[in-house]
Amino acid sequence: MADYRLKNGIIVSFGKTPQSGDIGVSGERLLTIGKSSAVGKSAGRPAGGRVGNRAGSTGSAAQIDLKGNSFVYPSLINTHDHLQGNYLPAVSPKPGTFYLTWQPWDTDLKASATFAERSKLTRRELYRLSAYKCIFSGVTTVNDHFPHELNAKILPTLPIRAIQGYGLAHEAVSYDLKWGEGIQAEHKRAVKNNWPFITHLSEGFDGESMQSVDLLEKLGVLDSHCLLVHCIGFSDGDIKKVARAGASVSWCAGSNMLMFNVTARIRKMLKAGVNVTIGTDSSASGPVNFLAELHYVRELYRKLYGEELPPKTIFKMITLNAARAFKMQDSIGTLEAGKLADALVLKGRKDDPYENLVSASMKDIELLILAGKPLYGELRFLDLFGGKLPKAYTRIQVGKRPMFVIGDPAALYREVRRRVGFKKALDYLPFEVEQ
Ligand SMILES: [Fe+2]
Repeated sequence: MADYRLKNGIIVSFGKTPQSGDIGVSGERLLTIGKSSAVGKSAGRPAGGRVGNRAGSTGSAAQIDLKGNSFVYPSLINTHDHLQGNYLPAVSPKPGTFYLTWQPWDTDLKASATFAERSKLTRRELYRLSAYKCIFSGVTTVNDHFPHELNAKILPTLPIRAIQGYGLAHEAVSYDLKWGEGIQAEHKRAVKNNWPFITHLSEGFDGESMQSVDLLEKLGVLDSHCLLVHCIGFSDGDIKKVARAGASVSWCAGSNMLMFNVTARIRKMLKAGVNVTIGTDSSASGPVNFLAELHYVRELYRKLYGEELPPKTIFKMITLNAARAFKMQDSIGTLEAGKLADALVLKGRKDDPYENLVSASMKDIELLILAGKPLYGELRFLDLFGGKLPKAYTRIQVGKRPMFVIGDPAALYREVRRRVGFKKALDYLPFEVEQ
């Protein structure tokens, strides 16, 4: 990509007061942020200390005028998904019942029409669907919680950043799926490489689930590398231990409520200072995409606690907190010169920038950028490509807006429908296709 600048947006990044200004992008990095910047001039000492060769470069930069009507955020980070499992509809327990652990859900999933249809697609097709689930909800970074031997060849082929550096376990119970090389070995590798160690934890209420924080502590692995997913059975003592250890939690409220009718004690975790992030889990148990999850957590918090979860708190969870949980805060999570240019441009529908983000829907996305590369956007931004859409992109119609998108999701959608033999609707794809 040639250098470019987005002008006259409202720049929103945690730790800074939102203000109108520009962002300058050079190669894969943010070169300049704010009003006084000028593309082609050095922005001074960049953040993160890992700046590509092109930062500081000059040249004729395309300029896109956002006309003061758009908010520019760091693109969103989903800390928990299973990219092989984003097929619809979600699989629920029988009406009026809920599960005790994840096991009976897994049994019900395998017996479901969702699973039967999904099995007609290749693993690569399922992963590509998941990449578009991310893109059309403003997410550029995600964890595919799945063993490396099953996803390592696919992740680098995706148009999004599905992190490849992580240690993992399935869960810390005797009946878990034995992913990875064991909790201690995987954690050790994570520490050595400064990766997160990611595991489901207390995804249920049986005796073992309730003891899982103690088990991590006993194994000597409860520390800031831990990204613990679900955590619904945590006691006060567990929350204190997790906060003290500097571990992170991936809150998957939609999935938890569908399966268990209970979720993590999130207010207590926030008060204790736990680094809380948000995950969707797969669409087979959670809301349809990340934006739907944001709407859901607000409603749920209001219902559970009788008060608002501040939109700014949610914003921090899905940007800076998530970057910290992935040990990537030096390169993503905020808009700062020298960091990777991961940016989400949303139509300004609300005065408050945080409210604007957490109430946004797929139709509000104007532009999504991953490491300087536009993934998805309105055709009015074609100047980013010198006026001509490169071959790696296609056009789709989202509502009344003609959009460009990386790859060919319309062809993928047609292929899904051909495989399953009917006009399947996947609601995270916000466009229609001719068969
Ligand atoms: Fe999960």
